[in-house]
Amino acid sequence: MLVSLALSASLVCSPVLAGPAPGHAGDKNAFIADLMKRMTLDEKIGQLRLISIGADMPQPRLLEEIAAGRVGGTFNSVTPAENRPLQDAAVRRSRLKIPIFFAYDVVHGHRTIFPISLGLASSWDLATVTQSARIAAIEASADGLDATFAPMVDIARDPRWGRTSEGFGEDPYLVSQYARASVKGFQGGSPAGADSVMAFVKHFALYGAVEGGRDYNTVDMSPLRMYQDYLPPYRAGVDAGAGGVMIALNSVNGVPATSNTWLLRDLLRKSWGFKGVTVSDHGAIDELTKHGVAKDGREAARLAIRAGVDMSMHDSAYLAYLPGLVKAGEVPMRDIDGAVREVLGAKYDMGLFQDPYRRIGKAEQDPPDIDAESRLHRAAAREAARRSLVLLENRAQTLPLKKAGTIAVIGPLADAPIDIMGSWSAAGKSGQSVTLLQGVRDALGASGRVVYARGANVTDDAGVVGYLNFMNWDKPEIVQDKRAPDEMLAEAVAAARGADTIVVAVGESRGMSHEASSRTSLSLPGSQDALLRALKATGKPLVVVLMNGRPLTLGWEKENADALLETWYAGTEGGHAIADVLFGDYNPAGKLPISFPRSLGQIPTYYNHPRIGRPYRPGEPPNYTSQYFEEQPGPLYPFGYGLSYTDFSVSEVALSSPAMARGGRIEASVTVKNTGPRDGETVVQLYLRDVAASVVRPVKELKGFRKLMLKAGEAREVRFTIDEDMLKFFNAQLDYVAEPGDFTVQIGLDSQAVRERGFVLR
Ligand code: NOJ
Repeated sequence: MLVSLALSASLVCSPVLAGPAPGHAGDKNAFIADLMKRMTLDEKIGQLRLISIGADMPQPRLLEEIAAGRVGGTFNSVTPAENRPLQDAAVRRSRLKIPIFFAYDVVHGHRTIFPISLGLASSWDLATVTQSARIAAIEASADGLDATFAPMVDIARDPRWGRTSEGFGEDPYLVSQYARASVKGFQGGSPAGADSVMAFVKHFALYGAVEGGRDYNTVDMSPLRMYQDYLPPYRAGVDAGAGGVMIALNSVNGVPATSNTWLLRDLLRKSWGFKGVTVSDHGAIDELTKHGVAKDGREAARLAIRAGVDMSMHDSAYLAYLPGLVKAGEVPMRDIDGAVREVLGAKYDMGLFQDPYRRIGKAEQDPPDIDAESRLHRAAAREAARRSLVLLENRAQTLPLKKAGTIAVIGPLADAPIDIMGSWSAAGKSGQSVTLLQGVRDALGASGRVVYARGANVTDDAGVVGYLNFMNWDKPEIVQDKRAPDEMLAEAVAAARGADTIVVAVGESRGMSHEASSRTSLSLPGSQDALLRALKATGKPLVVVLMNGRPLTLGWEKENADALLETWYAGTEGGHAIADVLFGDYNPAGKLPISFPRSLGQIPTYYNHPRIGRPYRPGEPPNYTSQYFEEQPGPLYPFGYGLSYTDFSVSEVALSSPAMARGGRIEASVTVKNTGPRDGETVVQLYLRDVAASVVRPVKELKGFRKLMLKAGEAREVRFTIDEDMLKFFNAQLDYVAEPGDFTVQIGLDSQAVRERGFVLR
């Protein structure tokens, strides 16, 4: 069956429905208008349907639905051979021969898996993010994909939320920069490029603010916070030209995003000028009944289309009810036409009318081995992974390690090829990922000895294991070591005793930092805690390598580890990259894109919180100030923090002028010096503080950063231009304004270690 369909596809070398080359808006509009004139209502509604391959219907039925013009696009297929027969059904068998598009969750790599987004964000390097998205697009398009449901740019300030791992952290400015960088990478010069995929920015909007960090929960937020903190990254993605936007599953101030006319029409389209296609999240239209804003599927379909949801993902309501709703006059034809226009417009922009097979290619060109090594981009993945690692502690220069002696590599995540890929690992194959154990072995070669012991399971909680194995993975991915915990521990301790150094990998299995994986604790599970304590008791140097997708509470680890390295989930080449850092072949320069709390009770700990009337002040009595009395205030590790194998100093801030005129600019500069023994990179961060304004402003806000490499002993001046735009904020009327008055410039190497100087905006 597959073979004959593949052959038929190879005969289709020119499109049946040829559109002009993408580019000219007039041509596009005329082409789509002409096509729409020939479409029946049912064919139009068919375009609004996005089908989940494997979940919605069996393949034979899907082919018939496509041929009947009842499918606009699909997602979850990952090879040209899978997509070709589907496209054949659309462009050879359907009446109007409108191509379908193929999408997938290509979030941090397609076949070559890059670090999770939170890891990429730790690089503070836009080029790395753009390049990882570019490579993902090259690989995904070579697999016949036209679009990705990425970047995910939800601001995450509550690490209980499992999807913290998927985003770029807590800061509006930094996440917005990454949103732009990713869209640029995915779409290349244009989403029509044969090696580009269209980016769908998600999840619009405010999904990261679900109450209590509990996934799918409600969001209730003041307009000021929304505009100032949570909306900018989506806007940045849209402004960067993202062709699509995925709508969030949560409600926003009482109205589900999926039925939120204000969000989708007034804000996104009218105010931001978004011209692309919107797609619901998985089943979200049907879920409007569960939200309790629609009494049944019919009402759900009406609310969603009226609000501006163009495509329905894995939902039945549009197909079932839109025809009747239109005929009954309850949904105006202009709403259907508007949605269809956007879907066809997206296909036009993907270049599919010009050539529906532009990414699928011809059958005879299909790679003989879809998983071939030659299809991977290992060097780029290793480089990105190295840049994503954050050194949190390094007592007495424990790191870098010498390539000699015996190293005990221990821990449930030390040899975990699935986990190191992180969640949403697209078409990545665990058999191709390099674990920490492999990375250490490769680095050490014959110059030292490696002993390995698992030491513990990620968790001994059978309920948690059952939960994680119930996810939609291909097979149960947590395979418990059946030995008794004590036996595993004893083996690990014996291995440690016979070694010169312990490298222990602990954290979360990847499913613990995923959709639907909210946690009530941010500490390491008990099995791993016991392992760390037993290893500590050996007295051997203890290097703790963390693998996790959210900030954890690491009080014990901070005090007891000789070195602590945050590696997130570092991807296909993770093991090599981590070994590069452990042995000093690469000097770490990553910085945290999110604050690490001391304890769960302390969250939220985001650095740029609004000013308050009774702030805690270090060194002053804490009574009647805003803090928790049992614990030291402030995060364990602040936003922007990360160590290097060398040291840096930052001079006082110099300003080109103590005053800025309206519409003017000033320069702020510091001299950064590498005062340590080795060459290294660091990230110089610029924060601004509005001293007094018409509304309460954050204590400080990141407004710029520069990553620079300095040779040992080298000093360099770093200059930032500050203009009036950087002083703007949303006032009580939601106007974006800069108000005259005093400001403080802060420059430093993390959000706390800063030098500051004031200036005035006249
Ligand atoms: C649900 C997730 O929320 C979304 O991020 C993803 O793109 C879709 N499923 C499709 O897999």
